[in-house]
Amino acid sequence: MHDIPVTRAAARKSIPQDLKASFGDYFSDHMFRMEYTEGRGWHDPRIVPFGPLQLHPSSSVIQYAQSIFDGSKGYRREDGSIHLFRPQAHIARLNRSAGELCMPAVDPDLVLAAMRKLIGLDRDWVPAKRGNAIYVRQTMVGTEGYMVVRPSKTYTYLIFLCPVGSYYSEGAGPVRILVSETRVRAAKGAIGSAKAGANYAASLKVGREAAAAGFSQVLWLDSVQRRYLEEVGTMNIMVKIGGRILTPPLSDSILPGITRDSVLTLLHDWGMEVAEAPIDIEDVVVASRTGRLEEIWGVGTAAVISPVGELAWRGERIIVNGGQTGPVAAKLFEQLTGLHAGTVPDRHGWSVAVD
Ligand SMILES: Cc1ncc(COP(=O)(O)O)c(C=O)c1O
Repeated sequence: MHDIPVTRAAARKSIPQDLKASFGDYFSDHMFRMEYTEGRGWHDPRIVPFGPLQLHPSSSVIQYAQSIFDGSKGYRREDGSIHLFRPQAHIARLNRSAGELCMPAVDPDLVLAAMRKLIGLDRDWVPAKRGNAIYVRQTMVGTEGYMVVRPSKTYTYLIFLCPVGSYYSEGAGPVRILVSETRVRAAKGAIGSAKAGANYAASLKVGREAAAAGFSQVLWLDSVQRRYLEEVGTMNIMVKIGGRILTPPLSDSILPGITRDSVLTLLHDWGMEVAEAPIDIEDVVVASRTGRLEEIWGVGTAAVISPVGELAWRGERIIVNGGQTGPVAAKLFEQLTGLHAGTVPDRHGWSVAVD
């Protein structure tokens, strides 16, 4: 057992009741933190009141973006119990991201124990309404203050919690997505497969242009040929063309999504074939013109399954399935949200009870 001391918040904040399209607007009362020092390892794991950090102005996170994070969710079931969805996979991915940025790995058992204890302490923040969740954000930043470009020798690791509703203002309905023609999210050989803050910084400009034009997200193409689908801002992508489900293969420029992995597992369980194969944007356009484009959907922790109703590419509007949610996306959404709620049998041991 891990001994994680708790310092309770002097005052409790009021807990929001209406989370409709809220994602990350509210933070619970406490957070977990621990520090790392080279030669000593991780130390002082503890739960403290949620609040600001003190950072050296020349810390590696501020100067050189030594920053990684991960996001998973916990759900309250009808019987009041709270379950995390695939927390071990999210902790393993954080450690993978850490390796990409020369940051130290955390002890997965300690971190899982910390998540459970923190959520147990702030359990009143876990929403009861189906579809709402407690979002569990892990973060690690380099804290040493220095100037030369090298990895930090000290780090802070945090877990904090946000009660969340649906990620998109459209709710679970189809979203409109802009295919980026001008920029890429991550280059081949770079750190795109890590959940590094820097990758999100690189996506902001096109994201803002897309939002101004009325799109929810950006679909990124590969950095070399600028024609193969990579992923969406916060989701991996799947398409169904002429009866075949396709998703881009993982690479060093795509985040290995946990939801992507869950969905591939479910589709295999159902005996549905999925090809992890490159998808040329021109093939999607042709399929749309010839009536063979059946469905497109995004998969990710934030939105779970997000049907894509429209893609915009080189001034052309590609309407997918008449702008409606397709049957595969709908079935996946039902199954995954059922697994979260505990109403569908958990054959893969994905849910972990908080207590
Ligand atoms: C860039 C990117 N791709 C894909 C995903 C989906 O990953 P996951 O299903 O693990 O949330 C996310 C969200 O975490 C993301 O930020």
